[in-house]
Amino acid sequence: MEDFKVQSVLLTGGDRGIGLGLVEAFLGLPHPPQLLFATCRHPDGPGAQALKEMSRRGSKGCTLVVLQLDVTDPESIKAAAQKVGEQVGGSGLNLLINNAAIACDTTLETEDAQNMAAVYATNTIGPLLMCQAFMPLLRKGAWTSNQCKMSCKKAAIINISSSYGSLSLVDSWGWKQDVGYRCSKAALNMLTRCLALRYSICGILSVSLHPGGVKTDLGVEQEEVSLASSARGMVEVLSRLSAHDNGTFLDWKGQVIPW
Ligand SMILES: NC(=O)c1ccc[n+]([C@@H]2O[C@H](COP(=O)([O-])OP(=O)(O)OC[C@H]3O[C@@H](n4cnc5c(N)ncnc54)[C@H](OP(=O)(O)O)[C@@H]3O)[C@@H](O)[C@H]2O)c1
Repeated sequence: MEDFKVQSVLLTGGDRGIGLGLVEAFLGLPHPPQLLFATCRHPDGPGAQALKEMSRRGSKGCTLVVLQLDVTDPESIKAAAQKVGEQVGGSGLNLLINNAAIACDTTLETEDAQNMAAVYATNTIGPLLMCQAFMPLLRKGAWTSNQCKMSCKKAAIINISSSYGSLSLVDSWGWKQDVGYRCSKAALNMLTRCLALRYSICGILSVSLHPGGVKTDLGVEQEEVSLASSARGMVEVLSRLSAHDNGTFLDWKGQVIPW
């Protein structure tokens, strides 16, 4: 990862869990991004203290900007895009990571319309709205980059998905049924494919990434991988992505997950 330097990165759900882990992993790079936008719903709430402390401490060559953003609120997305646009100026945005998600512990018997709609609003519609709002900045990032080949250094959209969204792997329940969550991630994977189809011509990569089973508020009880290893692994995968990976579904080690 010695030569992995992305100019600007934005991620959602940066105040805890895997989002916060990714912030730490980016800050720990030999060459961290010049601008790292960690967005969260409540930047002034107690849950964002660790993130804000990281931002105050700063890091070599990286400005960590904490911004308010609720992926279910189009006005908050628009306001954040405006602020990011002002900071990145003509260079645009290079890397958008749609990480925020919710899950509710439901079964086929207990899932209901209200819950499923809320899960979709965050996990599937949220990433779509984010891509729409940040597309002008991503296009600018791709145009003005000195990279000719597709990569995260040029412009990329990473949707943090889950193996629970894989249609092929659903031959046992695994740790939970989580029906609405599974459906929302399968739909998110289709969004990744559509983005890859549409925006590769603009030099923008789109990939779905599974972080592994990580112990977080949303995640598994028995961890498959530690938070730090998952986050570092995902950043390493990001450093290697190329046109060959456009529209694929990979895990934190870079292994292909079947759709
Ligand atoms: N952990 C695992 O084992 C695992 C496995 C596979 C996939 N994943 C995926 O990894 C990603 C991160 O999950 P996690 O385990 O880190 O979960 P987590 O610890 O529950 O964190 C979820 C994050 O999403 C944010 N969020 C929720 N709704 C939001 C909204 N409407 N707008 C903006 N942010 C919102 C939360 O913010 P608040 O603090 O404001 O609630 C929080 O920062 C998710 O996409 C998840 O599906 C996780």
